[in-house]
Amino acid sequence: MTIQDQHNRVHNYLRISLTEKCNLRCTYCMPADGIPLLPSAKLMSADEVYEIAEQFVKMGVNKIRLTGGEPLVRKDFEAILRKLATLDAELAISSNGILIDKYIPLFKEVGLKKINLSLDSLKPEKFHHITRRDHFNKVMQNLQLLLSKGFEVKINVVLMRNFNEDEIIDFIAFTETHNVDVRLIEFMPFDGNNWNSDKLIPLKEITELAGKIYGDRLQKLVDDRHDTTKNFQVKGFKGRWGVISTVTSPFCSGCNRMRLTADGKMKNCLFDNNEMDLLTAVRNNQPFEHLIKLAVWKKHAVRGGMDTAEKFSDETLNQENRSMIAIGG
Ligand code: GTP
Ligand code: 5AD
Ligand code: SF4
Repeated sequence: MTIQDQHNRVHNYLRISLTEKCNLRCTYCMPADGIPLLPSAKLMSADEVYEIAEQFVKMGVNKIRLTGGEPLVRKDFEAILRKLATLDAELAISSNGILIDKYIPLFKEVGLKKINLSLDSLKPEKFHHITRRDHFNKVMQNLQLLLSKGFEVKINVVLMRNFNEDEIIDFIAFTETHNVDVRLIEFMPFDGNNWNSDKLIPLKEITELAGKIYGDRLQKLVDDRHDTTKNFQVKGFKGRWGVISTVTSPFCSGCNRMRLTADGKMKNCLFDNNEMDLLTAVRNNQPFEHLIKLAVWKKHAVRGGMDTAEKFSDETLNQENRSMIAIGG
């Protein structure tokens, strides 16, 4: 069985947000005064996460990524992961890295190998400025620990004009000695994150800058059909780097992703504010396979209907969407 939309895209990748809480306060992810937290009774329990995930796997999902907020702040994270590991799907996690060391033995035990870490600056003061917390050293230590233990690590860097644009080359240079994938991400608009197009550093500018510095040593790699990233490597470097260009060069034609929010609502796209309530069906003991199929079938071809970059600046189109912290990336 496959989950397909009306644009012939097969959806086999589910991103599950486990919590809206986070131990950082990144400005691009959440409003300055936070978001009203959901009462815990509205969140999926560990068993409900499993039940919903199991249904998706029956319908063809073979990759599950756990997101947040910060997924590792959930007290029952271990129980959730152990149950999900019994499903026939590859597991991955997106984390800010602060609590990672505690969970490395568990990840090894259940076979979770793919870890994406948020790290927007290689400078402690800037890290503090963007996250409003002092955890730079911990995150860097945990990054080294993951690499020494053989995990496949990607580093997510949200680029913002006049904030970390001066670190683009530093991040690419980081791949000389580290076997990681650095992803430079175009800043995207979500509720409460003060986005405007001037703050965005576009794909073209990044690749032109890299071309100036590295010349012929810069190689374009072949991207997977479902990849969010346009991947590059500097010849001779251990790692790779790439750009996630949702705003200036969307990759929606290869989209295979669905999202489940911590309160059990399905989103068919990062930018579609229509949500399908799966948790209520689960709690009423009702079947929900048809709800999943319907939600995906209705998916827009591009960015929840924002098919031109101009539409990102149209407040009537993106203002109703959740904050990133409540979607999970
Ligand atoms: P892989 O599974 O390694 O490909 O990771 P990923 O890129 O799917 O996940 P991650 O959680 O690391 O997200 C990195 C960035 O990509 C974040 O800014 C996400 O918002 C963005 N991203 C992830 N999935 C999608 C997607 O389906 N569409 C768009 N437009 N952006 C996405
Ligand atoms: N624009 C682009 N990427 C974002 N992320 C969070 N908020 C934004 C945004 N506004 C990314 C972070 C995190 C990933 C899950 O989502 O880099 O690692
Ligand atoms: Fe898929 Fe929406 Fe992301 Fe495009 S913007 S790749 S359709 S989730």
